[in-house]
Amino acid sequence: MASLKLTCVVALALLCMVVITAPTAVTSTSCIKVSAYLTPCLSYLRGGSGPSKLCCYGAKKLNGTAGTTADRQATCKCLKSAAGFVSGLNDTNAGTLSAKCDLNLPYKFGPDTDCTSITL
Ligand SMILES: *[C@@H]1O[C@H](CO)[C@@H](O)[C@H](O)[C@H]1NC(C)=O
Ligand SMILES: *[C@@H]1O[C@H](CO)[C@@H](O)[C@H](O)[C@H]1NC(C)=O
Repeated sequence: MASLKLTCVVALALLCMVVITAPTAVTSTSCIKVSAYLTPCLSYLRGGSGPSKLCCYGAKKLNGTAGTTADRQATCKCLKSAAGFVSGLNDTNAGTLSAKCDLNLPYKFGPDTDCTSITL
């Protein structure tokens, strides 16, 4: 349990670093939210089983915040830069995350996502 917690803290710190150094024009607040919501998803994104309830809960919150096209593109850019820094990202799991959580995200979570193609 303790090591799991530690892993989460480390993962979150890594994502925050990504957020801070990401050369995108998105507001840091929304990017940090994105990272926080998706931290429970990391094990699944790395090829683990799941996604967990907590992960889907976060992903749904994330979906809820994506109101406008600009919001969605900003969220997407955060996801994209975060994905680029998740070591051992499993493309299969990353691609199925939104479907497994019953979301209708108009894009996949991954480093190759084209965020500019997102519209509402
Ligand atoms: C991704 O995860 C799935 C299921 O957990 C596994 O079958 C697949 O081999 C993994 N792919 C990679 C590239 O690791
Ligand atoms: C995700 O957002 C889309 C568009 O706003 C909406 O149609 C969909 O119902 C949302 N999914 C969930 C699970 O909230």
